[in-house]
Amino acid sequence: MRRIDPETVRKILDTADIVEVVSDFVNLKRRGANYMGLCPFHNERTPSFSVSKAKGYCKCFSCGKGGSAVGFIMEHEQLGYGEALRWLANKYGIEVAEEEMTPEQMEAATERESMLALNDFALRHFEHNITENPDGRAIGLSYFRERGITDAAIKRFRLGYALDRWDALLSDALNKGYSEKLLLDTGLCGKSERGQLFDRFRGRVIYPVFALSGKVVAFGGRTLRKDKDVSKYVNSPESVIYHKSNQLYGLYQARRAIVSADKCILVEGYMDVISMSQRGMENVVASSGTSLTDGQISLIHRFTENVTVIYDSDAAGIKASLRGIDMLLAEGLNIKVMLLPDGEDPDSFAQAHTLEQIQAYMAEHETDFLRFKTQVLLKDVAANDPIGRSRVITDIVRSISVIPNDVTRNEYVKECSRLLGANEDTLALQVAKFRAQAADVKAGRTRPTNENSGDESAIVTDSSLIKRETAISSDRMAYLRPYELATLRLVLKYGMIHLCDVTDNEGNIMPVRVIDFIDSELAQDDMTFCNADLLNAYNAAMGLTDQWRHERAAKEAEVEEIMNRHREEGVKRIMNEATTLAQTKKLEDELGAEIENMRNSMLDEFDELFISRLLASDPDDTLRRLAANMVSEKYQLSRIHTKHSKVETERDCLADRVPKAVYGWKNAVLEWQEKELRRLMTDAAANNDSDRVNSILTELMELRGKVTALAKYLGERIVLPRK
Ligand code: UTP
Ligand code: MN
Repeated sequence: MRRIDPETVRKILDTADIVEVVSDFVNLKRRGANYMGLCPFHNERTPSFSVSKAKGYCKCFSCGKGGSAVGFIMEHEQLGYGEALRWLANKYGIEVAEEEMTPEQMEAATERESMLALNDFALRHFEHNITENPDGRAIGLSYFRERGITDAAIKRFRLGYALDRWDALLSDALNKGYSEKLLLDTGLCGKSERGQLFDRFRGRVIYPVFALSGKVVAFGGRTLRKDKDVSKYVNSPESVIYHKSNQLYGLYQARRAIVSADKCILVEGYMDVISMSQRGMENVVASSGTSLTDGQISLIHRFTENVTVIYDSDAAGIKASLRGIDMLLAEGLNIKVMLLPDGEDPDSFAQAHTLEQIQAYMAEHETDFLRFKTQVLLKDVAANDPIGRSRVITDIVRSISVIPNDVTRNEYVKECSRLLGANEDTLALQVAKFRAQAADVKAGRTRPTNENSGDESAIVTDSSLIKRETAISSDRMAYLRPYELATLRLVLKYGMIHLCDVTDNEGNIMPVRVIDFIDSELAQDDMTFCNADLLNAYNAAMGLTDQWRHERAAKEAEVEEIMNRHREEGVKRIMNEATTLAQTKKLEDELGAEIENMRNSMLDEFDELFISRLLASDPDDTLRRLAANMVSEKYQLSRIHTKHSKVETERDCLADRVPKAVYGWKNAVLEWQEKELRRLMTDAAANNDSDRVNSILTELMELRGKVTALAKYLGERIVLPRK
């Protein structure tokens, strides 16, 4: 895939707003300075996914996933760096010079990306058929028109038509350089016994299935023939990019409407979604004829807690589907159910009614799920059948027991005791019993097994020297890692911040940034990071200095302009207000101080996180993750309250923290050296090598001296001159 030029990359990264980007996938609610929502990376019921607009950064406190806008898209959409950038560019309408991929380039792109690219090609092929191809127009387009689908809906859902030929798409795709393997992997083609590829979709109208990213992951093709011997639908098979159980048809188009209505309507089929949507009920998704899965439910939950399931009036499927709805309850969703009039499905109902009529019908017929389930089950039980009745009660109680929220659950116990004429306490007791059982099952499943842990010692006892040396250096890396991390963390977060000034021999005052201080301290003792990933991050941070200078200068000019305006206004005000010379002087001094403060805090804000913000969007995976983790820590840091209860942030005590981190690290290096020397001395003593023992002893003494000096230094509060 072609590289995107750095300027465009920068533009994309600057434009991408983390809140907007995440909002495409998660319903975010403002919480103080940040936004919170349900984590898209794991199943959860209470929000632990936090998004900071100011820091351009998101993170799940529970599973730890997150990152910058580009990192989030990479993780969430499982895209490569370049693809994620293109995704963002597309969202913000930023032009990225795009070249048709050559077959070689295509080979290099990941399998996933190539499959998505081919699907996109197929989407346009099918769409082209329905708009331009005479057969496509005569058959596909007129089919949709006959079914009352508007051109706008056809566009919105990108409906298409597959020509009734065995190689229409096949030859088109091969001509464009897509491989046979890709055609098979995506399921767009099948292979005959004689090894000949053929189009899977032939003579069918096409419903593309979009993932939340807006990428086409699958297609559904409906036959236009009435005869029973062809299958009504042909769907894309499961593949690397398509897991049926994790997709909901229409969610991509419906997501905003779901959030604004704070409700998701669940129907069965493609046509149900499209017809409802074009009528103005846009918050509709389809499970595509199968029962709901956990994955689909948590997809819904990201956008709303309220789900209404619409059933056709034919009662056959209702009972079977009741169980699936228990899963929605267990997810903590509020479920309502709505039955349509006899003989109607959502498609026909929407075609025959106006939006107002549909809304009115919903308002009247939406029923709470448990009440609905009770009614359905009781209908089949005779009034004089106590056993049947008790079976119904048990069934309902089981449903109630999965509701996570205590208050809601208790409300349901009350309600059902009324509906079923059963004793409330008895029901509550039964609910408690089911919950205890479920908890047991869960605990049993998660109990760890320790069967294979005996083998590892075999590796450690291998006595070859190389193994041993490797073990030592990896021990050393592990030992020093926390100290190296602590220092790196300060570099990434505060590296460009002004720490102190030093005066050189000629009396020039030189500003020292956090990163300069750390760098000179390391140089002094000729030390560096021994963990390669941390060293890499440190070097990357150092490498940003030029860019910082450049952008800082621009920022300073911008701030200066704002300050000048502020000063002019201030001076005008003073001339109007002040009556004496002394007063004028006092007000002018105040204005000067105020401007100085404003300027400093604006520039400080620019410096803080300058490094981590850039690195959190870096193409290098390890670097990006590391930087991202560092930034997010900020939220969790406890703040220090002084006796005046003024809140002091870490940012305020850098003059203390930075030296402490570096000296703490140096101390750890010395400690490690001491450990090493002691080990060597034991070896030498065992060999009766007294010369060696003595020389090591001398070294040890020297080292001790350094450790003591450093410890003393560390113990004192280090005060550096601050401007
Ligand atoms: P329906 O048979 O109700 O189809 O299946 P439909 O979507 O309402 O189609 P129309 O109205 O006859 O045109 C409901 C859903 O079940 C899935 C499809 O997703 C369909 O939309 N389905 C059904 C299949 O995947 N394969 C099938 O063979 C049948
Ligand atoms: Mn239908």
